[in-house]
Amino acid sequence: MRRSEASAIHNPVLLHEVLHALRPHAGETIVDLTIGDGGHAYEIARCLGSTGHLIGIDCDRASLSVAEARLAPFSEITTLVWSNFARLSDSLDQVGVDRVNGVLMDLGLSSRQLEDAQRGFSFRIEGPLDMRLNPDEKSRTAFGILHSASQEELADILYRYGGERHSRLLARLLVKAARGGSLNTTLDLAQIVQRNIRKGRGRIDPATRTFQALRIAVNHELANLEQALEESWGRLTSGGRLAVISFHSLEDRIVKEKMRQWVGSGWARYGEPRLVRPKPEEVVRNPRSRSARLRAVVKDAA
Ligand SMILES: C[S@@+](CC[C@H](N)C(=O)[O-])C[C@H]1O[C@@H](n2cnc3c(N)ncnc32)[C@H](O)[C@@H]1O
Repeated sequence: MRRSEASAIHNPVLLHEVLHALRPHAGETIVDLTIGDGGHAYEIARCLGSTGHLIGIDCDRASLSVAEARLAPFSEITTLVWSNFARLSDSLDQVGVDRVNGVLMDLGLSSRQLEDAQRGFSFRIEGPLDMRLNPDEKSRTAFGILHSASQEELADILYRYGGERHSRLLARLLVKAARGGSLNTTLDLAQIVQRNIRKGRGRIDPATRTFQALRIAVNHELANLEQALEESWGRLTSGGRLAVISFHSLEDRIVKEKMRQWVGSGWARYGEPRLVRPKPEEVVRNPRSRSARLRAVVKDAA
């Protein structure tokens, strides 16, 4: 299948649950660290009134353009920042904001990014092996990793970030294919995995794990998440809310552990309920939501 144009606009996941956890009020300042196509942000902006402030961050310029168009009715109260969310403090300093009443993180990538062949995120669409969330940054792509990493390094990435049990076998095959010049596109990569690794009991395509692992490595996703959580915490007001949607267990573990530390030290309390999963109706309507987990805390002491 070849698709060069991204089509579907992203459908926000757990929208009502996010609003319940963040409780944005008129006059408040809320920062959406992953503004994406502005789906959550639009509904948040509606609650902020004319005196509130919505700050939207994304490392992908294309997402910011979509968000800007969608949030046009709220342009008076919206500031968009092109940055990595791990540098939240710098971004807030840049726009002259000290403290915020709420922070939202909706991790991963949008369906629009996933379906854009040129981004290389999907194992179902032929495209370059890129996978950078910020394609304007001169950093290592998935192609770069596959063609420069040692077999051990690659096996480590596949095991640590994808939970791939056959990581060593796969790394050997991928390094061989890269050296032989036959590993150039997303479909080349997907086919090597699919030909050599059988589907597990969950019937999940085995390429899912490889693509997840490479994407996490390319974008340093786990380190950025840890940093962003710390920076968010430091910028929340007393009574401020932090809500995070994660899509795989590695992210969720980091979020859960950080929140446990804050609550354990008496500086925060959990949102109600502590963990939110999508209802079956949402999963039917938006299958992408099926692995979503929302966790939230309220900060007690500034
Ligand atoms: C799931 S989408 C967000 C969708 C959004 N909530 C909506 O309703 O349209 C995640 C977004 O986060 C952005 N993103 C991921 N990692 C980031 C990072 N480290 N810094 C800034 N933005 C990031 C992606 O580019 C993507 O646009």
